[in-house]
Amino acid sequence: MLTGGGDCPGLNAVIRAVCRRLWEAGHETVAVRDGWRGMVDGTITPLGWDETSGILHKGGTIIGTSRTNPFKLDGGVDAVRATFEQLDALVAIGGEDTLGVAARLHAEFDLPVVGVPKTIDNDLNGTDYTFGFDTAVFVATDAVDRCHSTAESHNRIIVVETMGRHAGWIALFAGIAGGADYILIPEQPVDFEEVAAAVERRRARGKRFSVIVASEGCELPGVEDTGEVDEFGHVRVENRAVGDTVAAEVEKRTGMQTRATVLGYIQRGGSPTPRDRMLGLRFGLKAADLVTERKWGRMSALHGDDVDSVALTEATAELKLVPQSWYETARTFFG
Ligand code: F6P
Repeated sequence: MLTGGGDCPGLNAVIRAVCRRLWEAGHETVAVRDGWRGMVDGTITPLGWDETSGILHKGGTIIGTSRTNPFKLDGGVDAVRATFEQLDALVAIGGEDTLGVAARLHAEFDLPVVGVPKTIDNDLNGTDYTFGFDTAVFVATDAVDRCHSTAESHNRIIVVETMGRHAGWIALFAGIAGGADYILIPEQPVDFEEVAAAVERRRARGKRFSVIVASEGCELPGVEDTGEVDEFGHVRVENRAVGDTVAAEVEKRTGMQTRATVLGYIQRGGSPTPRDRMLGLRFGLKAADLVTERKWGRMSALHGDDVDSVALTEATAELKLVPQSWYETARTFFG
């Protein structure tokens, strides 16, 4: 198996579960190191009891990750196909990019691949939730709570910037759960006048502080992207300085002292919540069953409380963005 893209709490729970279920069925398991990079370089290491014991609670991935895209490398796909000759099947654990490569390798070369949906951003289609999201929301909500007490002490506004380059799920959930006065997400146009009005409404009711949650992927009026992209063509959103820009614009309009806090990798690192361990573990068992049943080109997926599977092509066709109905739920609590 391999883990690709940004790391994510719960990856090790998946790895452990895939191994246990495949061993039960009489198979052997190995690790492909550092995502698709390992398939290009043929870096395969053992994955047995010694490697997989005591990892359930650990953050990150014990087998490494990267954002390598073999379709963008000269000879990359040929190298991946050569490495496949050493394997009977590949379990690819990743988000839209990693699984997009898996879907293409299956569709174009009939390679024996199954997928497991991973991302703290929760923006993968075909599954109700991805593992890692619950941990990220837990961390971000705790940060919003903490910002409330310091904002209140100083009569300030604090803008909390969360991850989520295309989809605002983390900002939305942490903002609602943390009682933010406004939530800015990439799916909604940003209007600084509206944000300032929400803060003013709150002030008129006697509260002299506010917390605003903003997703890093928001497109802000007047802010140009640098054009810098990664191997999968995604714009590097870190350069947008969303938190600082929102803080400056809100301070200008309200006259209230405003600060910004960027949560960054804290949302992605560290131990998974029990819910993410359970979800990762269940996804892992399902992926192992898909291998045993030779159901290639499919991905474990959560529907309601059931773990079943969907086609990788369906899951990776487009991103799962925050629908208007969810934003309306949030809007009820603004200001
Ligand atoms: O894991 C997804 C994500 O957290 C995005 O929200 C973010 O933009 C991106 O990863 C950044 O990760 P890196 O800096 O590792 O490329």
